[in-house]
Amino acid sequence: MSKGRVCLDTSTILKWLILEGYTVVCFLANVGQEEDWAAVEKKALAIGAERMVIEDLQREFVEELVFRAIQCNAIYEDRYLLGTSLARPVIARAQVRVAQQYNCEYLSHGCTGKGNDQVRFELAFMACNPSLKVIAPWRMPEFIKKFQGRADLLKFAAENNIPVSSTPKAPWSMDDNLVHCSYEAGVLEDPDHTPPKELWTRTVDPTDAPDKPYEFTIHFEKGIPVKVVTPDQTATDSVELFKLLNKIGHDNGVGRVDIVENRFIGLKSRGCYDTPGLTIARLAHLDLEGLVMDSKVRKLRDQFVTLEWSHCLYNGMYFTPEREFLENSIIFSQQHVTGEVRMSVYKGNAYVLGRKSDASNLYSQEDASMDSLETFSPMDTTGFIAIQAIRLKKFGLQKIQDGQP
Ligand code: ARG
Ligand code: SIN
Repeated sequence: MSKGRVCLDTSTILKWLILEGYTVVCFLANVGQEEDWAAVEKKALAIGAERMVIEDLQREFVEELVFRAIQCNAIYEDRYLLGTSLARPVIARAQVRVAQQYNCEYLSHGCTGKGNDQVRFELAFMACNPSLKVIAPWRMPEFIKKFQGRADLLKFAAENNIPVSSTPKAPWSMDDNLVHCSYEAGVLEDPDHTPPKELWTRTVDPTDAPDKPYEFTIHFEKGIPVKVVTPDQTATDSVELFKLLNKIGHDNGVGRVDIVENRFIGLKSRGCYDTPGLTIARLAHLDLEGLVMDSKVRKLRDQFVTLEWSHCLYNGMYFTPEREFLENSIIFSQQHVTGEVRMSVYKGNAYVLGRKSDASNLYSQEDASMDSLETFSPMDTTGFIAIQAIRLKKFGLQKIQDGQP
């Protein structure tokens, strides 16, 4: 007799759940990672899954999450472009859909009890369907006791005829999608251990990149990349153009970061991230905003909207009223962010060569020109400076009075 039906996002815990008496529907999201899809399905069914559901979520991932991140220049703690965080809402929402379709009462996942992902998945599950219950094996005493180390896992696999890969896995944990590949744990837990050259899977080593810069153009419409033009090809489809940016970044070693970050649950963690296309798109977008965006809107957006939207994503608060509220102001802020940016990549760096836009009247070559005084009266600036200085003069006098240098 089945205890109930479970929807599980990874195959690692599949057998254990079956032995515990559950019927398991396996779910695998295609968010652009490297995967042998047929092999995963075969393995899940061989272990005893009731069915294996694989869904291609690449388009909704790019259009709903990645492009929104580009529109607000999303970033966490000044360095992390949120590659893993951006994929989680799309995966979790699809998993809930699948669970509903196959009448599951539970959702499960293979995240550890120390990470961000457990929080992201479970908050998303609860927001998308509060009536589904969650099984988090890595937080269950009976599971943790049984699987204390790799030896326990191998023994369990052998006892239950679960094929395990004979080639040793990389000595760190990876999470791969269209946006990035992350590397954490294992030898990387020592923050002073330099990542070995072979760790990076999504970018060539900058020192091995071509000796010639590679030039291309990114076109934006309301802050969204709509076209990428290289000397060899033009891409306009969202997924295709993002893949093209990934390839340009990959070949030229653009987008590597190695950081220590603060996880939502309070732990510090060292992570390395390989994020070629998004690094390039973000830089181009920031540059275009310099040309077309109002200065005050930009300041407010940077101080509040970008910071908060990035935290919503990092902390698993995607399905929330605050994220919807922030999103509306992101979209509003992008009304005139239409134009094109000419870029160059060279040995690990991306550069802007030029930008143009017909969508905004804010930049005026004539106003800015050092050679023209049309439309501008320099005498007015005397008063502007004098007024600004009222406060500063008082401050300076106070210092003199207090005997401070
Ligand atoms: N530290 C990053 C984040 O929290 C990457 C997490 C990678 N997740 C994983 N299951 N390997 O977004
Ligand atoms: C995990 O602990 O499952 C991966 C890392 C993270 O979620 O932060």
